[in-house]
Amino acid sequence: MADRTRVGVLISGRGSNLKALLDAQASADCPYEIALVVSNVEDAPGLDFARALGIATFAKAHKGMKRAEFDALVDAELRAHNIEAVALAGYMRLLSPGFVEGWAGRMINIHPSLLPLYKGLDTHQRAIEAGDAKHGCSVHLVTAELDDGPIIAQAEVPILPGDTPDTLAARVLVEEHRLYPLALAELVRTL
Ligand code: GAR
Repeated sequence: MADRTRVGVLISGRGSNLKALLDAQASADCPYEIALVVSNVEDAPGLDFARALGIATFAKAHKGMKRAEFDALVDAELRAHNIEAVALAGYMRLLSPGFVEGWAGRMINIHPSLLPLYKGLDTHQRAIEAGDAKHGCSVHLVTAELDDGPIIAQAEVPILPGDTPDTLAARVLVEEHRLYPLALAELVRTL
């Protein structure tokens, strides 16, 4: 499928959202193809999902490098693989303004909250503690601000009596895996 948009996915850990994106691209009408997976954690478990499919990976610890310097390396890898759009999938590192600018309008992130609520970490615990009735996940275009930028898709789940951060996270994750492939497909169709 030569006309599929080449996507780079950035991860830091488990990679279950990467797996969902990969599963969706098995469908004949998927408009994207993941051509590179990058991690700032050298042994991120999610890298194995890419390796199992023979997809190129670039894993390098950011430790000891300036943010802009590390991001320039990542950018060079993405360009070398002719990547046209970027999906952050549990990439737990702030991006430098120059990197964000270079991918403006072509880079999305998934975040486990109904943005603009609960940017940052511990979103499930914060939603429970606030007494919210609902929670969920959001996909947004990436801007220089953390977990900010125009929202392109959201999915809600109820918060149930007795929920813990773990039970709520599991309910949200099901929706993340459904929503992210749809949102990435929607983005690349507009490029
Ligand atoms: C996901 O829940 C994702 O929404 C979240 O990290 C998890 C990664 O899981 N991302 C953020 O919090 C970004 N601010 P995964 O590695 O299994 O996809």
